Amino acid sequence: MEKLVSNWSSTVHSLPESYVFPPDQRPGKHIVPLCKTIPVIDIGKLVGHDRSDVIQHILNAGQEFGFFQVINHGVSENLMENTRSLFKEFFNLPDEDKASFYSEDTNKSCRLCTSSFNYANQEVHSWRDKFRHPCHPLEECMQLWPEKPTRYREVVGTYSVEVRKLSFRILELICEGLGLQMGCLGDELTKSQILTVNRYPPCPDPSLTLGLQKHCDPNLITILLQGDVYGLQVFKDGQWIGIEPLPNAFVVNIGYQLQVISNGKLKSAEHRAVTNSKEARTTIVTFISPSMDTVIEPAEDLVSELNPPLYRAFQYKEFLSTYMACNGDTETVLEPYKLHV
Ligand code: OGA
Ligand code: NI
Repeated sequence: MEKLVSNWSSTVHSLPESYVFPPDQRPGKHIVPLCKTIPVIDIGKLVGHDRSDVIQHILNAGQEFGFFQVINHGVSENLMENTRSLFKEFFNLPDEDKASFYSEDTNKSCRLCTSSFNYANQEVHSWRDKFRHPCHPLEECMQLWPEKPTRYREVVGTYSVEVRKLSFRILELICEGLGLQMGCLGDELTKSQILTVNRYPPCPDPSLTLGLQKHCDPNLITILLQGDVYGLQVFKDGQWIGIEPLPNAFVVNIGYQLQVISNGKLKSAEHRAVTNSKEARTTIVTFISPSMDTVIEPAEDLVSELNPPLYRAFQYKEFLSTYMACNGDTETVLEPYKLHV
């Protein structure tokens, strides 16, 4: 557990060598513009004209940025605040309360760990700790969750159910916009729901390191609660832009699977997390994903002679192993699945 950044970061005054990224990956000292152009979409009204406007907004954002934020999303501010404060408390618990969750075994489903996928084989580590566990089906998963803080299971259980509902509402709007039946994305494609809580402690030199290196999300769709501390950046037209932290909004981003199913109509965008020297940042991320055996392919209704499929069919588990092997190299992840038309 001594590897966790939160366990030693407050005692160091300079960034350890093993956290210094190669020059071409460093955020550097220049200020990244905080982006007001990543759409903030009000999904509070979904009837009549408003509904078609919202759908159009979502599709445009998904095509152009791969990212958008939603407000008036139906998850109560009270629940969002409770969940945020609960996870801050969790990370601040004494070591003995968290020790049973710490593991370097990537197969352990409920685990506390640090950096990204494979710590042992990394040349450079990322400045973050993470706690992750499955959330669906709730009754099965909950048994694995922490019992401290005492309200953990109640708060995270409610949060997981509410965010699942929200993700279905968004997927439904996306389906409607693309002209697909919701059945296309229901069930197998949304079977798995993983909650990941990222903790980025204050960092002595944010210009040299990253909280999370450049990647696209491997799953279907991601719903992220960023809170009020800045750190998330999206790569767009050759430059990094920052996503404005709106405390009561959710950041939504398109995963690779939705890019494939939509036959490239929606895109998965590269993003990364930067650190800051002043305050710890905690983000609460819900990954909606297919089950391992699900076959992914462009939706039948979206392909025709004029719109040939851009990707071949594959099993989600096959994709995941490519994803792990590519280790953040977003250029090559989809290569084995592309049909060159
Ligand atoms: C992720 C992610 C960004 C953040 O967990 O996949 O992109 O700001 N997180 O924590
Ligand atoms: Ni991500």
